[in-house]
Amino acid sequence: MKKIQIAVDGPASSGKSTVAKIIAQDLGLIYLDTGAMYRAATAVALRNNLKVAADIIEEIKANPISFKNTSHGQMVFLGEEDVTKLIRTNEVTNNVSWVSAIPEIRTFLVAEQQRISDEGGIIMDGRDIGTVVLPDAELKIFLVASVDERAERRYKENQAKGIPCDLDVLKSEIAERDRKDSSRAVSPLKQAEDAVLLDSTGMSIKDVVEFIERRAKELM
Ligand code: DC
Repeated sequence: MKKIQIAVDGPASSGKSTVAKIIAQDLGLIYLDTGAMYRAATAVALRNNLKVAADIIEEIKANPISFKNTSHGQMVFLGEEDVTKLIRTNEVTNNVSWVSAIPEIRTFLVAEQQRISDEGGIIMDGRDIGTVVLPDAELKIFLVASVDERAERRYKENQAKGIPCDLDVLKSEIAERDRKDSSRAVSPLKQAEDAVLLDSTGMSIKDVVEFIERRAKELM
């Protein structure tokens, strides 16, 4: 089979990582969650009270971001430390926009993402994969869904995990993150010209996976 690159971009909670993980397993691709890398960089900045890009990068170089696939899903590490849960806390989520808007941090993480993509066939999800990280990807998907549906999906996920939350708060947080991700100066969330737009409002995870896999298989 041909080594293929699949870029999945889209706004927060559009289901990118859920479908990308399944597709990676089905098609034998590496899965890279680039949002987790920006979240890990944010955790580094917050815990060490760092505001300057060079300091954050130095700290990440000392304790590199890495991933490990386990039967419970993908784990994220900073050096030896498991930060899988830490990077999903509200504190990190509410600060990731300013850290991911720092140009030097993006340059550093994009280089790392491109290095990992050299290792084999890959599916990567994020905001700038089709436009910046993998501009030559064979398949680019821009996955969207309405704010209401994304908030409801997040609400159900939180309920299942026993995390208390309010649907209206989730809606406004998602809308706010959309605004920040789309309006920042460096690599804003934007559909690549050659990306396929997929609106998953009202679609099941299975439908979305099948849609993407059908196209991917034609290219492999
Ligand atoms: O996909 P996510 O919600 O875990 O991503 C967290 C944040 O990281 C998101 O608000 C924007 C940023 N991000 C980015 O700027 N570029 C990427 N390729 C991936 C994520």
